Amino acid sequence: MIIGIPKELRSGETRIASTPESIKKFCEMGIQVFVESGAGLGAFISDQSLSDAGAIMKDSAIEIYSQSDVILKVQRPLEAGEGLVDEMALLREGVILVGLLSPFLHPNQVVDYAKRNVTAFAMELIPRISRAQSMDVLSSQSNIAGYKAVIDSAQIYRRIFPMMMTAAGTVAPAKVVVLGAGVAGLQAIATARRLGAAVSAFDVRPGVKEQVESLGAKFIEVEKDKISESETEGGYAKEMEEDYARRQREVLHETLKNQDICITTAQIPGKKAPILITKDMVSDMKAGSVIADLAVETGGNCDLSEPDKVIDIDGVTIIGHTNWPALVPSDTSSLYGRNLVNLMKLMIDEENKTLSIDWDDEIIEGALLTRNKAIVNSALLEV
Ligand code: NAI
Repeated sequence: MIIGIPKELRSGETRIASTPESIKKFCEMGIQVFVESGAGLGAFISDQSLSDAGAIMKDSAIEIYSQSDVILKVQRPLEAGEGLVDEMALLREGVILVGLLSPFLHPNQVVDYAKRNVTAFAMELIPRISRAQSMDVLSSQSNIAGYKAVIDSAQIYRRIFPMMMTAAGTVAPAKVVVLGAGVAGLQAIATARRLGAAVSAFDVRPGVKEQVESLGAKFIEVEKDKISESETEGGYAKEMEEDYARRQREVLHETLKNQDICITTAQIPGKKAPILITKDMVSDMKAGSVIADLAVETGGNCDLSEPDKVIDIDGVTIIGHTNWPALVPSDTSSLYGRNLVNLMKLMIDEENKTLSIDWDDEIIEGALLTRNKAIVNSALLEV
């Protein structure tokens, strides 16, 4: 059995789907790993270290795609016209493709996997159950994104974060507000607190208040009674009604007027991100403030965010990276690689060194998009 790791070709993607550590684990399972030469360079991983770990290096993507039984990717394959290589055309019939395939944002590509008889798994659809925690890419990547957003904001913000009591007097701490206290938001709160900022946070899900407070941040409440209707059974946020959203915008408008940094991470799975920060709110923020928008890939939480740009609106900087995890590629690749090893362990019969997939397993069922030329994912079929 051969696992193939092609070089990531999407613009701005620096991660690799397997690091030397995970390649060693595959080799220990008796599986051959083919890696495209140069695939690790964006994450500062040399061909030599990949080959020392047991990978067989190949010169081209074509060699990887034509010889592998399983292709492990970070981002979804390039389609015709998207770049120099049409990766979709390279996918062999019957191959297993695993990656962050963004099926809700790119449903036509899922149709194409089915047409090409590719068995495709979307890592971001792995259910958030305790057995699957070690495969949870949303957590492993968002966690680091939340950290990085605070660090980048602190660098742009031209003042210090901690309160300092000096002989020349006291410097007040920076005020940081975090919108959306999921995995990224909670890490942002913890990071900003470690840097000494005064932190507050807001989320629509009820369970979050306690988590926010346990990290030493203040929880901003909009309407206590409405908050109980804001969560799905799976623990995700629901889209809020316009009445609540309006009230929320009013509270945020007042809050943002005296904040220095806003880290915004609010997402609704499979949908466009909610707009929480409007143009008027940005105009009323203090000059020198910074907004880091972590939801830009799904449309952004700030009306003015521009994908992959850092812009200045009357002294307020808005950071709009679409791919925060790619800014810290060594750490995110290493965690992503471990997530993939853990998923692959579920699919491999280590004794016979062959694929052995239990199609009824909840984790497999949740992540599987296409099989036998059909779209089979229930979440996707419901849309
Ligand atoms: P996410 O990336 O989908 O959303 C980020 C945050 O934005 C969430 O906390 C959400 O409630 C919030 N949000 C959505 N709309 C909002 C709005 N209009 N205003 C303010 N905030 C808004 O969330 P993430 O980080 O992926 O976590 C989602 C859930 O998954 C959480 O309940 C988390 O505890 C759970 N989880 C479960 C795990 C497991 O059991 N393996 C692992 C990690 C997370």
